[in-house]
Amino acid sequence: ARRSLLVGFGGYLPDRIVTNDELATRLDTSDEWIRARTGIAQRHIAGPGDTAVSMASAAASQALDYAGMRAGDVGAVIVGTSTPDQAFPATAVRVQAELGMTGGFGFDLAAACSGFIYALSMADSLIRSGQVDSVLVIGSEVYSRIVDWSDRGTCVLFGDGAGAVLLRAAGDEDEDRAGILSTHLHSDGRTGDLLYVDGAVGQREKSGFLHMRGRDVFRHAVAKLSDSVDEVLRVNGLSHGDVSWLVPHQANLRIIEGVARKLELPPERVIVTVDRHANTSAASIPLALNEAVRDGRIRPGDLVLMEALGGGLTWGSALARI
Ligand code: ACO
Repeated sequence: ARRSLLVGFGGYLPDRIVTNDELATRLDTSDEWIRARTGIAQRHIAGPGDTAVSMASAAASQALDYAGMRAGDVGAVIVGTSTPDQAFPATAVRVQAELGMTGGFGFDLAAACSGFIYALSMADSLIRSGQVDSVLVIGSEVYSRIVDWSDRGTCVLFGDGAGAVLLRAAGDEDEDRAGILSTHLHSDGRTGDLLYVDGAVGQREKSGFLHMRGRDVFRHAVAKLSDSVDEVLRVNGLSHGDVSWLVPHQANLRIIEGVARKLELPPERVIVTVDRHANTSAASIPLALNEAVRDGRIRPGDLVLMEALGGGLTWGSALARI
């Protein structure tokens, strides 16, 4: 049967770093409060030259280089984003042009912070069904554009950036590589008002800002992500001890630690970037993967469990052998 391998990894973070202390000069907050509640110490914030398209393209180029593949050989581009530069064309189509692709197809996918898990799942399905042989799966987010910088309850939580993974169909020479074992997606629109952006393109009477009921999101996150982790292991006939690495969506260190405890995974088996990147929404998992693969923590053959929850609410998980 056809299956997808993760063969390339890339990431991009804007140069500008904003520390908690810098935020505390403009807002009634403190480094101590933010660290204690979230584990966040700093975040990268897009500069004038950074857009959802430019960051996605930079991350995608790195993933192609890692895999030794050319953009022209890629069958599809999927970008998970809630902060596209334009309503259309899709970010993914602009990325195609940036990379010099003249074939294949691209589209964006809106699943908020679960965007990467959703995009990975769609990409895996495209490969399994034989529609394409390779897909660039990208998360690219500019949350600095949609947070209300005067709302200390939300603006301290987010950062900007992009991450990318290149998936390729396994060939005869890849006999011993399992790749993506399964992906699991969920959403429940009844919880839509816990975390949402007020407005859409052209709705001038709306604020365009992100709104969140933090406590409620926190409660749902721990419960639903615990269920997700159980689900993905059960479906694959695996147990906690089989997981080499947890690569979670990076919303909040307390949520991450909750899921790690559930998995009985020691902290050194959990990839954490939230301290330095804050919550980059759909970009957080591919950024974390990129970091851990490049620094040699995640190695070929390792079993990696990814999970995320975000606005919708949407949530899900994916299990892959690298
Ligand atoms: N600095 C100082 N004080 C603050 C700040 C801040 N940045 N933000 C809020 N406060 C104050 C509040 O005003 C409140 O004050 P009050 O008691 O005088 O009213 C007090 O701190 C407590 O506020 P809570 O919102 O109840 O604080 P809580 O302990 O729930 O922590 C937090 C807030 C960190 C947002 C937490 O609820 C959380 O992590 N929720 C998960 C949300 C999340 O991660 N969302 C990301 C998107 S979804 C996802 O990716 C999973």
